[in-house]
Amino acid sequence: MSEKKVLYSGMQATNTLTLGNYLGALKNWVKLHEEYECIFGVMDLHSLTVRQEPATFRKNARSLYALYTAAGLDPKENCVYFQSHVSAHAQLSWILSCFTYMGELSRMTQYKDKAAKHEDNVNAGLFTYPVLMAADILLYQSDVVPVGVDQKQHLEIARDIAGRFNNIYGDVFTIPEAYFGTTGAKVMSLADPTKKMSKSDENANATVLLLDDRDTIIRKFKRAVTDSDTRVYYSEDKPGVSNLMEIYSAVTGSSFDEIENEFEGKGYGDFKLAVGEAVADELAPLQKRYDELMKDKTYIDECIKENDDKARYMANKTLFKVHHKVGLVDLIR
Ligand code: TRP
Repeated sequence: MSEKKVLYSGMQATNTLTLGNYLGALKNWVKLHEEYECIFGVMDLHSLTVRQEPATFRKNARSLYALYTAAGLDPKENCVYFQSHVSAHAQLSWILSCFTYMGELSRMTQYKDKAAKHEDNVNAGLFTYPVLMAADILLYQSDVVPVGVDQKQHLEIARDIAGRFNNIYGDVFTIPEAYFGTTGAKVMSLADPTKKMSKSDENANATVLLLDDRDTIIRKFKRAVTDSDTRVYYSEDKPGVSNLMEIYSAVTGSSFDEIENEFEGKGYGDFKLAVGEAVADELAPLQKRYDELMKDKTYIDECIKENDDKARYMANKTLFKVHHKVGLVDLIR
């Protein structure tokens, strides 16, 4: 095993990714393996907390794997695998659920939000979602976890569970920390820039999907909601144009000052078009690579198999240790 610290993250296997997922997370994950031992999951078990149509779900999960790869998350440099292919996740999750209190799970804001949104399907999985997430992280003895603000509370509970377990049984789990390295851009909805860009948004114009074609991307940016002004500058009370600047900056690498200078004397129309074109240019090679990968089933299959095996090996090491610590009879090997 290398001396590098372990970094763990993943995304749910639902729908196609948005520009927000890409600029906020995925794009920044690509280089992390230079510094960390990186493990990224396709979190398909978590997706089951919401009803999935099986054929679409299976397709989306594979598609997410290909998107990770197409975005530059090289499965030869990173362990990129399917959560459901490593049974230790579900197994550790059960054990950890016996060390998690109903009270702490009831305080999770995401649970409260989701329960309100899916009133007809408030299943136990939705409630124990953070325990499975804790298992994901703790199985790999992860040191750092890059997560967005909406997942901070879940990381916090993973730390609490790990600490509680370690207090009883000794040092079993590494206590994970939030990763504060290069943080990604925070991309807001194009229709309502006070809201985060979300794949579940009902307004199709609010969200740019990673697989949108060039014309669609440019059209969506042209329609992006901005405020009643014309000058391009960054300001808290100009959320629309500021969001576009954030996106343009993430894609081109220009600072806000440079962007202001570049568009000095030009209006919002020119700027929106430029952002749309820059985003389309950025995504074009990714989309091309994605198409190639989706056609080359053998390459992806080989990567999945190799990395599933790697993940299983690491995860089982922790799981067997936990079994032993809590007093389960050791496997006879
Ligand atoms: N819950 C995370 C999300 O929706 C996905 C996730 C599952 C995750 N397990 C994880 C993220 C472990 C980081 C680490 O974004």
